[in-house]
Amino acid sequence: MVKNIAVIRGDGIGPEIVNETLKVLDKVAELYGHTFNYTDVDMGGCAIDKYGDPLPESELKKCVQSDSVLLGAVGGNKWNDVPGNMRPEKGLLRLRAGMGVYSNNRPAKIWPQLADASPLKKSIVEQGIDFIIVRELIGGIYFGEHKTEGDTATDVLKYNETEIERIGRIGFETAQKRNKKLCSVEKSNVLDSSRLWKKIMHKLAEEYPDVELSDMLVDNCAMQIVKNPAQFDVIVTENMFGDILSDEASMITGSIGMIPSSSLGASSRGLYEPIHGSAPDIAGKDIANPIGTILSAAMMLRFSFDMPNEADAVENAVSAYLDAGYRTADIMSEGMTRVGCKQCGALIIENIRKG
Ligand code: IPM
Ligand code: MG
Repeated sequence: MVKNIAVIRGDGIGPEIVNETLKVLDKVAELYGHTFNYTDVDMGGCAIDKYGDPLPESELKKCVQSDSVLLGAVGGNKWNDVPGNMRPEKGLLRLRAGMGVYSNNRPAKIWPQLADASPLKKSIVEQGIDFIIVRELIGGIYFGEHKTEGDTATDVLKYNETEIERIGRIGFETAQKRNKKLCSVEKSNVLDSSRLWKKIMHKLAEEYPDVELSDMLVDNCAMQIVKNPAQFDVIVTENMFGDILSDEASMITGSIGMIPSSSLGASSRGLYEPIHGSAPDIAGKDIANPIGTILSAAMMLRFSFDMPNEADAVENAVSAYLDAGYRTADIMSEGMTRVGCKQCGALIIENIRKG
């Protein structure tokens, strides 16, 4: 198959982790007889420096015309003082909205080889951590009106039934493919938007009788994620709650550098990115962990290109690399062999086998 991939290297460690990932994709293409064409897209701080805009229309167009988008990371202290609507992050929000990717899928899974890296007690980790946060990505407070007038600033949190229903369906369908447990997270004791959210989730539940739906308030959920993470299978929640809970969920796995994500809308074209940031402090030093991006590319193969064997081959190679005792600095522990970003990429490539 021939696939056209828009590649956003971005800022900080973005370029180095993306480089390793493209080498992984090239190896997959070689083994399985595919052709992956890459189109470079400027977004984030580097685009502000070049065009004075974090995502010019011409760059967004390249993404919308691709078969999928692979993104490293954007942002950094250098652009902290630019106005809100010109920040690097604004490029990312425009990209998500422009691509219509309303559903963001963030797995929180503990790698058995890294169980010791979790900050949670062993007795909790042993019960298993393997759940997915389905986060609504192009609505809510992120996309409501933002304004500052005199001494008052306002951000509007708004959802309509259609927006809630389409993300709700993704939540139910994701649960159907897993352990059939969906937890809808909101703040319905305070917010109207959450009461509407809850109502729609229960209406949808009638169409998915095989899925067990539960409700949880977001503050309680933040507590339950550290108290008893094994209770969760799929969590579905609105944009900002999902942003916050997914950082918490990644931390309990002990390895934020390992976690990929996919964002999808109505078509198979997706946006794939690791959930960590651009880490400017370690940029260019060849110490970043490229695995979050490499696993994001595996998700792209699986969910956008319908290449499950190829995706398995990449994930198995990551597992074999960990089994062999190699670790980048972020997940280094006693007795393991420390490697840099490039060597990590090369070792994973060596382990890719056609299954
Ligand atoms: C994320 C990030 C973004 C978000 C920022 C960079 C705009 O935190 O992908 O979780 O808040 O969505
Ligand atoms: Mg976030």
